[in-house]
Amino acid sequence: MSSYDLIVIGTGPGGYVCAIRAAQLGLKVAVVEKRATFGGTCLNIGCIPSKALLHASELFEEAGHSFAEMGIGVPAPTLDLKAMMGFKDKAVEGNTKGVDFLIKKNKITPYLGTGTITAPGKVAVAQENGTTTELETKAIVIATGSDVARLPGIEIDEKQVVSSTGALTLEKVPGKLIVVGAGVIGLELGSVWRRLGAEVTVVEFLDRILPGMDLDVAKSFQRILQKQGFAFRLGSKVTGVTKTGAGLSVSVEPAAGGAAETLEADVVLVAIGRVPYTAGLGLEALGVALDPRGRVVTDAHYQTNVAGIFAIGDAIAGPMLAHKAEDEGVAVAELLAGHAGHVNYDVIPGVVYTSPEVASVGKTEEELKAAGVAYKVGKFPFLANGRAKANNQTEGFVKVLADAATDKVLGVHIIGMEAGELIHECAVLMEFGGSSEDLARTCHAHPTRSEAVKEAAMAVEKRSIHM
Ligand code: FAD
Ligand code: NAI
Repeated sequence: MSSYDLIVIGTGPGGYVCAIRAAQLGLKVAVVEKRATFGGTCLNIGCIPSKALLHASELFEEAGHSFAEMGIGVPAPTLDLKAMMGFKDKAVEGNTKGVDFLIKKNKITPYLGTGTITAPGKVAVAQENGTTTELETKAIVIATGSDVARLPGIEIDEKQVVSSTGALTLEKVPGKLIVVGAGVIGLELGSVWRRLGAEVTVVEFLDRILPGMDLDVAKSFQRILQKQGFAFRLGSKVTGVTKTGAGLSVSVEPAAGGAAETLEADVVLVAIGRVPYTAGLGLEALGVALDPRGRVVTDAHYQTNVAGIFAIGDAIAGPMLAHKAEDEGVAVAELLAGHAGHVNYDVIPGVVYTSPEVASVGKTEEELKAAGVAYKVGKFPFLANGRAKANNQTEGFVKVLADAATDKVLGVHIIGMEAGELIHECAVLMEFGGSSEDLARTCHAHPTRSEAVKEAAMAVEKRSIHM
């Protein structure tokens, strides 16, 4: 029987990163993956394909709308959806092959098949050909990720009623797309199909979009999306979807109950969240504790209640984000190798890759209010930023929240082009416990959008120059 220091089950961003870091630190490592390719949800059906389609569809829209005003004359762009899907598939292939290469480079042994933990220190891998391989190991990391949350009574066929997975492979642009859930997936994939020509209506249970994000940002973002053509039904729930020949009849009710109305759609995208995926691992028999939401419960060192079994990523508590899973993978590998692994959950950026992007790190105003923390706000609009004006991309703003007493930056929230890149100087600042004054006194190159970050920091003490 082959024996290892560490077996990681699942090769998403949590699992493969954990395996590589452990191998770097000298551990003998194997990974088990039930999908045919490495990279998990993120590389195969999540972050990477969605960002490829967001990029391509954004350029498609720009070519049709904003080239002429810059003096670029091109014929109206035409859509070759098959080719665009091919572009996306190539991005996925390039990334999953990259992980393949890294696994080989780091001398990690891969096992393709479904992993089950038969006992602490024992993993059985069931291959597709019916054979089972038994493995032995000192430690096991569960990195099995998450799956789509479903709406009771609404069957996802991935053709007409789709999850994010089906929404990444539609064969034609739907005339009418109804998105259930105004979260990250709904707004990103809704944006893709709106840009390609769909009429998009988002039905959201709550009375706001992007729950968890700063409310000021969410409200402003909703207005921007409406200007782009999104329609929102907030405070509403989808209670049923019926097939009507080629189309769908969708019944929508107020969240609090009341009269239902019927909307017509060609495609319904169910994007109401994701649930941890631990099926088939054998956790019940082992007595591994799960919380009421099905997440594997771990201690601060990612160990479950069963010694030698650890868990990371979407399968445990915390934001379901690839970089959170990666950092936990590194932390647990370092802990297993006798180092001091650690993740700072106060500084995990979140980005919505729409156009403009939305990015945030740290606390929202609502969280600070709820915690009774006295804070100051510095806000700066891209409308007053030279680079944004030069590029005619002036939507959005930067908002810095700093402790009223110490000036320590507690949160930063940005709507604007490239917000997902801009947020990281704020994350670094916060990792070092920096103040708004530190940010405000750091020289920023001109003309850059990053100057809006500096100006927002200056605005905390009401000394912004360009506003
Ligand atoms: P996963 O990536 O889900 O990987 C788990 C792996 O385990 C899978 O490959 C699965 O096949 C395998 N597995 C499960 N059970 C077994 C078993 N018993 N035996 C063997 N293998 C098993 N996050 C971001 O940060 N940025 C984004 O832009 C972003 N975009 C997204 C877009 C979409 C459409 C979706 C759905 C998600 C997106 N996410 C994004 C979230 C991100 O994909 C997840 O947070 C991330 O993949 C979690 O990583 P993980 O390693 O925990 O699990
Ligand atoms: P989400 O949790 O972001 O949003 C789900 C939305 O659906 C919420 O607004 C919720 O109120 C609403 N909702 C729930 N039940 C409903 C119902 N019955 N009717 C109407 N609305 C309902 O989940 P989403 O968008 O599915 O994404 C799943 C995960 O994937 C998220 O945790 C996210 O972090 C991750 N992800 C991250 C991305 C990024 O970082 N850019 C991109 C895509 C996904």
